[in-house]
Amino acid sequence: MRFSLITKLAFVISLILLTCMASYAYINIQTLKQLMLEEAIADADKLSETIISTTHYQMLENDLQRVFMMISEAGTQKGVERIRMISKDGKIVFSTKKDEIGTLIDKKAAACNMCHTGSEPLLHTSSMNRSRIFTTANGTEVLGMAKGIYNEPNCSAAECHFHPASVRILGVLDVIVSLDAMNAQLNEYRNKTIVHTVLLLGLLAITLTFFLMNLVTVPVRQLLARTRMIAEGDLESSVAVQSGDELGELAQSFNSMTDNLRQARGELEEWGRHLESKVEERTRELKQMQAQLIRSEKLASQGELVAGIAHEINNPLTGILVYSSLLASDPKLDPDLMPDMETIVRETERCASIVKGLLDFSRETPPQKTPILLEQVMEEALNLVVHQSLFHDITVVKQYTPGLPEMMADHNQIEQVFINLLLNAGQAMTGDGTLTITTGLVPGGASVYAAIRDTGCGISEEHLGKIFDPFFTTKDQKGTGLGLSVSFGIIANHGGRIGVESTVGQGTTFTIILPLMGENEEHEGVGGD
Ligand SMILES: Nc1ncnc2c1ncn2[C@@H]1O[C@H](COP(=O)(O)OP(=O)(O)O)[C@@H](O)[C@H]1O
Ligand SMILES: [Mg+2]
Repeated sequence: MRFSLITKLAFVISLILLTCMASYAYINIQTLKQLMLEEAIADADKLSETIISTTHYQMLENDLQRVFMMISEAGTQKGVERIRMISKDGKIVFSTKKDEIGTLIDKKAAACNMCHTGSEPLLHTSSMNRSRIFTTANGTEVLGMAKGIYNEPNCSAAECHFHPASVRILGVLDVIVSLDAMNAQLNEYRNKTIVHTVLLLGLLAITLTFFLMNLVTVPVRQLLARTRMIAEGDLESSVAVQSGDELGELAQSFNSMTDNLRQARGELEEWGRHLESKVEERTRELKQMQAQLIRSEKLASQGELVAGIAHEINNPLTGILVYSSLLASDPKLDPDLMPDMETIVRETERCASIVKGLLDFSRETPPQKTPILLEQVMEEALNLVVHQSLFHDITVVKQYTPGLPEMMADHNQIEQVFINLLLNAGQAMTGDGTLTITTGLVPGGASVYAAIRDTGCGISEEHLGKIFDPFFTTKDQKGTGLGLSVSFGIIANHGGRIGVESTVGQGTTFTIILPLMGENEEHEGVGGD
């Protein structure tokens, strides 16, 4: 079983209050009882005093009948249980209760033992000491008050009289009053006190609970709810600071703790994101560099082979071309054979162009670097291709970055690369689409880039790894598969890079990055940030 803080607090406070109030009420009642008792004793004392003084004359006269009458009258007063007169030797001379007249009282009985501790009575005991409280046979609580009737000079001197002067006490007047009225009053007071105490306690408990709820429970609950939210990972909301006390302070430091946590988490997340993108970027760069290296090696070994073959084929091919051209122009040639002859010449010319491409590819002529402007070279390449019928329905969008610095490169070779890429783009779009050319400075400032984007057929994943290989083509009879491999060689010789991104059915973007100073960019770390 779990009790809330407030329940415990309210319980403890109520318990303390209950104890305090009950003790206070008990002391109160006891004091009141004492006071009322004293008053009752004084009343009884006064009554017996009055009886003795009013019967004084009749006593002297020895008119006992009148004395008894007067006592009987006094006995009818409200609250008086009985009044009796007891003689010196313990005989009840008169009583308002007729049946005990003439009986003897034991000196050790309750009515006498206040004065008669020994054989002789204590004459000077106070009215307080001469009183006694006891319960009668019918169950009422009563107060008894015994008063001595003294032998006065008038008494012993009276001629009629028989009291010798040596006797001090002639008898005792015993007044017994009921304490019922007093007890009833006390009971009523006690009941009232209990009711008031209970009401007061209830009121106190309600007020206490209300204030404790507002001052403690509500802010503590809020804090508790927030702690749970934090445990579940929510660091956004905060606790309202309502008071300037310790709880308010706690809420404030709780809020600042949440703020710090949030900040720390944000930093961690940011750091994680940054790290992830950095790793991704580096991995991509590494992959590109690796692919480039493999390609370079492949090209170098293929280059030698290709150069040898091309050189060997070039001479006989020239012979075939010369002789077939001569034959085709010979008037003695049968006109029926003319179309075949023309096919031979055309195909031989195609062979010659392939061989020329091969020689270009393998020649490895070192670039003749001069200061050039990338944008200018691109414009020249564009001028050479856009007039071809292939480009008639193609929209060319130029996004040149103005004011690019001059760069060191071989004008002709770079132009050839651009022509290759532009032609490939045109062919991919089959005469209809948008060609976007972008230039700019690579962040870091040591390299420039040119991107050629087309909206053509795109390159499949499978082909993407092969397009830079010599003789790889998807264009059947029309392609040599040398354009990209030659371009790759040229850019590599300039210390640059060539990259491709493509989505089948949407288009392709070729990006060329060239170092401004014409040096190998790997050493300068161009392309990174
Ligand atoms: N812009 C492009 N869009 C689609 N495919 C391309 C593009 N550029 C190159 N290719 C693909 O790369 C292959 C090789 O190109 P290339 O080396 O220029 O040889 P060729 O143009 O003679 O086929 C092409 O056959 C083509 O499949
Ligand atoms: Mg091509």
